[in-house]
Amino acid sequence: TAETDYELIGKNEVLAFYEPRKKYSHKGTYGHSLIIGGSYGKIGAVHLAAKACLHTGSGLVTAYVPQCGYTPLQTNLPEAMVITDAAEKHISKIDFDIEPTVIGLGIGMGKDTKTVNALGQFLDVNKTPLVIDADALNILSENEEFLDKLPPRSVLTPHPKELERLIGKWDGDFQKLEMAKSFSQKYDCVLVIKGSNTLTIYDGKGYVNTTGNPGMATGGTGDVLTGMVTGLIAQGYPPLQAAIFGVYMHGEAGDTMVEDTGYQTLTASKLIEGIGEAFLDLF
Ligand code: APR
Ligand code: MG
Repeated sequence: TAETDYELIGKNEVLAFYEPRKKYSHKGTYGHSLIIGGSYGKIGAVHLAAKACLHTGSGLVTAYVPQCGYTPLQTNLPEAMVITDAAEKHISKIDFDIEPTVIGLGIGMGKDTKTVNALGQFLDVNKTPLVIDADALNILSENEEFLDKLPPRSVLTPHPKELERLIGKWDGDFQKLEMAKSFSQKYDCVLVIKGSNTLTIYDGKGYVNTTGNPGMATGGTGDVLTGMVTGLIAQGYPPLQAAIFGVYMHGEAGDTMVEDTGYQTLTASKLIEGIGEAFLDLF
């Protein structure tokens, strides 16, 4: 029935799989996240995702960006390491010599022809778990053969427009859900449909988030979510749980911060400042 197909996600559902930090641990225990994205004028997206990833507990974070991203990231986010692409303004070949636990891919990346080719070649060889957002989703929509190359249980985080490009136009909410479920099953991916009640879909089941507010309807908040989900997978949460937990904490951070800022003044950077409070609020 419809009830067994959907689950509302609140604090108790998240606490059911929450893993406390262990005393005898070190940064290696909590994984290495690689954030791949950015292009000229959109390096801020990578900054936000990498910072959110750090604030969610990833042991290490590296950003892979075109060369124009090097100085701003190294100047403004000292905790993150940076690897640069050969090209100045767009990613032209995804090539790195580290072994990340998980990769967050696509934010601010643009759709330059070289970037599209780089993504196709990368997916041919990649075996690392992926969180895919923004322009990487748009590239997947325009190059359907790339979808068959995704590692199992990749997490895809489309907003409604990105979802439509990915699964096609729907007629009403019922059809939208059916199409989303069959897409998720066909490609064995966790589909996070972002919006005012973000819905996560996997294995024919839906998880409805209960946190968040319209103050979060502002540029960059999606990039923050990408970093958070990536950071949770780095720490060992399975992709579905990382998606559900990340979406919940992202909304909780927004709900905490909006009490100080008001709806109009909440920004993506402020949202990141609220992540710590969201963890404290779990108990
Ligand atoms: N209530 C609760 N949450 C909301 C609301 C709302 N009314 N509005 C937005 N959000 C949340 C969404 O659930 C999502 O997690 O804010 C986030 C917005 O994410 P995106 O739509 O991806 O926005 P953004 O981060 O600005 O994306 C940056 O990348 O996706 C591309 O082209 C897109 O220009 C955009 C850029
Ligand atoms: Mg976005």
